[in-house]
Amino acid sequence: MAGIEVSKQYAADLPLVECLPLQLNQILVNLFSNASEALHSQPENMTPQIRLETQVLAGNRVCIRIGDNGPGIAPEWRDRIFEPFFTTKPIGQGTGLGLSASYEIVQQHGGSLALASSEGQGTVFTATLPQTQPREVHRYKQFPLPLSQPLDRPA
Ligand SMILES: Nc1ncnc2c1ncn2[C@@H]1O[C@H](COP(=O)(O)OP(=O)(O)O)[C@@H](O)[C@H]1O
Ligand SMILES: [Mg+2]
Repeated sequence: MAGIEVSKQYAADLPLVECLPLQLNQILVNLFSNASEALHSQPENMTPQIRLETQVLAGNRVCIRIGDNGPGIAPEWRDRIFEPFFTTKPIGQGTGLGLSASYEIVQQHGGSLALASSEGQGTVFTATLPQTQPREVHRYKQFPLPLSQPLDRPA
């Protein structure tokens, strides 16, 4: 397969985001792996693409978007993909845990993980996160950890 074309569009005004960096990293790894795995089955005449975007939202929130131009997700599967162990991959290849773990992590940060997909058009996952965590969370999760940016800033 030809290389995957990766395009990035990072918000210039992206603030620091209070998060558990290893967990946030885990989400990105999961979404990236899924996107690149989805692109394995693309027809020869199509350039596989992954698009990465960050955006500042109203209400002191930010979002990270990872999109691909892969086969998309069938409507009958859309309600199930966040379930633990749900996988459409062959035995030995998929654990079905990437999205359920990601969903859980985003929720624990007080955010949300959403999916937009149309069959044949690709898939976009959007993780929306609050910039800061409430004080109670600081206590039980040993915040504040070093403040971390979800992604590097544009050069
Ligand atoms: N970017 C994507 N494009 C198409 N299907 C996807 C994508 N991301 C996830 N899926 C679907 O969601 C399922 C669950 O994903 P995940 O929880 O990461 O488990 P796994 O990757 O081990 O199968 C995948 O098996 C696949 O069917
Ligand atoms: Mg996966």
